[in-house]
Amino acid sequence: MNIHGQPHRSIEAEHATRSARIIDQTFLPHQVEWRELHTMEEAAESIRVMRVRGAPLIGATAAFGLFFALREDASDAALQKAYEVLHATRPTAINLRWALDRVKRVVEPLGSEQRADAAWEEALAICEADVATNHAIGRHGLELLRAIQAKKADPAAPMNVMTHCNAGWLATVDWGTAISPIYQAHDAGMNVHVWVSETRPRGQGASLTAFELKEHGVPYTLIVDNNAGHLLQRGLVDVVIVGTDRVTAHGDVANKIGTYLKALAAKAHDVPFYVATPVSTIDWTISDGIREIPIEQRSDREVTHMPGLNAAGVRDEVLITPAGTQARNDGFDVTPAALVTALVTEHGAVLATAAALRELRGLM
Ligand code: MRU
Repeated sequence: MNIHGQPHRSIEAEHATRSARIIDQTFLPHQVEWRELHTMEEAAESIRVMRVRGAPLIGATAAFGLFFALREDASDAALQKAYEVLHATRPTAINLRWALDRVKRVVEPLGSEQRADAAWEEALAICEADVATNHAIGRHGLELLRAIQAKKADPAAPMNVMTHCNAGWLATVDWGTAISPIYQAHDAGMNVHVWVSETRPRGQGASLTAFELKEHGVPYTLIVDNNAGHLLQRGLVDVVIVGTDRVTAHGDVANKIGTYLKALAAKAHDVPFYVATPVSTIDWTISDGIREIPIEQRSDREVTHMPGLNAAGVRDEVLITPAGTQARNDGFDVTPAALVTALVTEHGAVLATAAALRELRGLM
């Protein structure tokens, strides 16, 4: 995707030094700051403090993290230790475990002198596959958008898509999941407009999705999270598309806190609610999302304080509550499968049911 007109990815391999370059997303949208990762600890820290975030990008960064660890020490003990440190960085996004397992499976049978090279190649392969997967999700999502547009009373009127959090290219290596169909629709000349939900408390919609859409020239309007029900009720939303951090084998979906309320409101107003997901985000080991998906608990400071640029143009934050106010900060919620119109995967749209997902798994 383009930043100031230049093509980039959210994570880029530096072959000469065998390091990885990330955009430090804690500086966005005000500054595009690149940061080099050379060690497992740097990769883990970047995931933990959300310099990189979004399920697929967390996975890709962790894969490089495992390579950095093996470059230092390729023993079984070091591999296991690095796996555990990286795995503990964030609990909800299953792509983290998926990517670590993928690298581990490749390197474990090898002799220690071959492990680092193999891990590097696997991290690169994970990145390439992510780009192709997300492009395919976009193609399938575009078909769904076209079908919705064809049914509109005035097919030339804007296609109003609502999204939540950031499931664009900043959340992946490139393209994004939920935003990939939007980019492809826009590029194909469809009159698409996006309702961007700000996504309190960290504001991934306001800071990241708005940044991406602006860079790509896609028309969007920022809304406070609480506006979603109102817009859906007034018929101002044609479709809701979100990403996900973990889908169960029965189709329950964990995504950024606030997703569930949007799904409920979409159902009440008969608006399609799609979840864009690579197959790597499906956790085949669990079925009941509400009981089994771990929900990240984050700092109350993210709720009691608001970050931004102050009048002097310096990054700052302000307290918005009475001092000492206690807050609860669940990072994600679970949308039951029954509220999901379909999952949009790289293999096409699939119903969020155990049977449909079993069939999808059988194809792989
Ligand atoms: O806490 P974050 O910013 O990592 O949460 C990101 C999301 O919830 C995304 O919607 C999800 O990871 C899908 S990314 C394609």
